[in-house]
Amino acid sequence: MTCLPGKYLEESSLNIDFICPIQKVFLKDVNTYIDYKMYIVPSSTAYGLSEKLASILSADISEVERKRFPDNEMYVRVKEDISGQDVMVIGNTKNDSDLIEYLLLLNAVREEDPKSLTAIIPYFGYARQHMRYHSGEPISSKVFTEAISEYADRIISVELHNDQTIKYSKVPFINIKIMNPIYQYFKNGDIDYIISPDDGGYERARNLANKLGVESYYINKKRINSNTVQMDLPNVNYKNKNVLLVDDIISTGGTIIRASQMLKDRGVNQIGVCAVHGIFAGNSDKKISDIATNLIVTDTIESKYSKITIAGEIASALLNKIRA
Ligand code: R5P
Repeated sequence: MTCLPGKYLEESSLNIDFICPIQKVFLKDVNTYIDYKMYIVPSSTAYGLSEKLASILSADISEVERKRFPDNEMYVRVKEDISGQDVMVIGNTKNDSDLIEYLLLLNAVREEDPKSLTAIIPYFGYARQHMRYHSGEPISSKVFTEAISEYADRIISVELHNDQTIKYSKVPFINIKIMNPIYQYFKNGDIDYIISPDDGGYERARNLANKLGVESYYINKKRINSNTVQMDLPNVNYKNKNVLLVDDIISTGGTIIRASQMLKDRGVNQIGVCAVHGIFAGNSDKKISDIATNLIVTDTIESKYSKITIAGEIASALLNKIRA
């Protein structure tokens, strides 16, 4: 996507608050240029994505100093003067140290009194504990959403595991669904079926299949007890078919590895695997690659399998929000 000042100015009735965030924009009615900057403050988990987003938005990336104190506590410092500016802090909250870095960056920006602060969290960790499953447990996603919304004016995240997390926020929270970039990646592929490894993810698989004009199914996943999960493949012809498994997260890889193995045992020709978030705990990427023909994830968590970028989707959400 490109940033078109003329278009945004027309739609915005020349209200400067609504202007496309490019560094210099042309106000055709008053025949002048004004300076307008948007800053991205990247956490160490999102450099690549920050660069892509900066290039789409013509935003500046702020330098961040990071070090550890002698007792190993984390230190960060945003080196740009961002007071009075529109600032986005981009980073994941996958690991505990990612979370600490992210919260420190948010506070560092807030203390500088920016014009606005948008928290962009491509992969929102701890979102799978969005409720209490047993007494005595915390609601982890509530803890971190509340903390983030103390500092941010708005939060943007991508394909949260469950929408319940949004409800814990005290500020507007946009949960972007990534469909178009995935469709663009696979639109010329030779795929017979799209399969979701469980019924919870079937809507995603069905939407993609509808766009691609192929059939879609889901695997019936049933928990038998705390150690055993039963997975039953839909009853269709797999012999020499090309199947794409689509899921939201690959964490330990257990779900996808088992589904891929079952498909292989049924004589599938090519097994593609695509997920929005690739965590790949415990070298599960290697185990998946041993069975599947293709392993593709987006760059919400950057890895060598990140062949699909979500930068355009984040830019659209951001510009729509700024103009709203
Ligand atoms: C389950 O509800 C999710 O959609 C994923 O299938 C699951 O979180 C993947 O986890 P793992 O890779 O550990 O099997």
